[in-house]
Amino acid sequence: MRILITAGPTREYIDDVRFLSNASSGRMGYSLATAAIQAGHEVVLVTGPVEQSPPEGCEVHRIETTDQLRQQCLTLFPHCDGVIATAAVCDYRPRARITGKITKTGQPIVLELVETSDVLAELGALKDDRWIVGFALESQDPRNNAMRKLRMKNCDCIVLNDTSAIGSLTNSVEILSPDAETIASYQGTKQDIAERLLKLIETTIHGTKQK
Ligand code: CTP
Repeated sequence: MRILITAGPTREYIDDVRFLSNASSGRMGYSLATAAIQAGHEVVLVTGPVEQSPPEGCEVHRIETTDQLRQQCLTLFPHCDGVIATAAVCDYRPRARITGKITKTGQPIVLELVETSDVLAELGALKDDRWIVGFALESQDPRNNAMRKLRMKNCDCIVLNDTSAIGSLTNSVEILSPDAETIASYQGTKQDIAERLLKLIETTIHGTKQK
């Protein structure tokens, strides 16, 4: 298979030196990339800024903003069999990026934020016979929110995890099908989970699409 993997955070710039982002380490996406390469797949990794180096053997596309993530994914997805979307995407960006550096005035400033594009929903709308594995990071009403995202983004399954996953070495996930069934639950290091999730994609998700 040729697998597109999104990983890490996006950044949305306030001015030329400051940005909004999140604490994603990229570890889940990089672990999946490693597992997929070891299993003999081609990996196309679209990654936000993280400390880790990408595993050897994958095609790497570095991005910073959600718009750059979107551009890369729209270009690369049509040439892949499926996508695993682990990126922790900024849902909001400042309405305008200020040129230079904002200088203090002693007064409060108001930052107006607008929504960024939902990259996975756009891929979901053009997926044809490709498969989509989404991630859902939830802090409340997890199953219902994850299922809403699965439907909205046209996913073949969604990996539900909670906010403790951000920046952690380990994770605990539940994988939900479009019928709201739990296909699998995994706990352990992100590398263990990546290997098991990849097997599930090979046998169940990709396998179904080939029938
Ligand atoms: N995602 C995306 N583009 C966005 C937001 C999310 O592609 N603008 C992808 C993520 O990579 C993940 C899935 O959509 O695979 C769900 O991300 P999550 O942050 O859990 O949910 P959101 O759709 O952003 O909704 P909310 O933050 O309101 O819970």
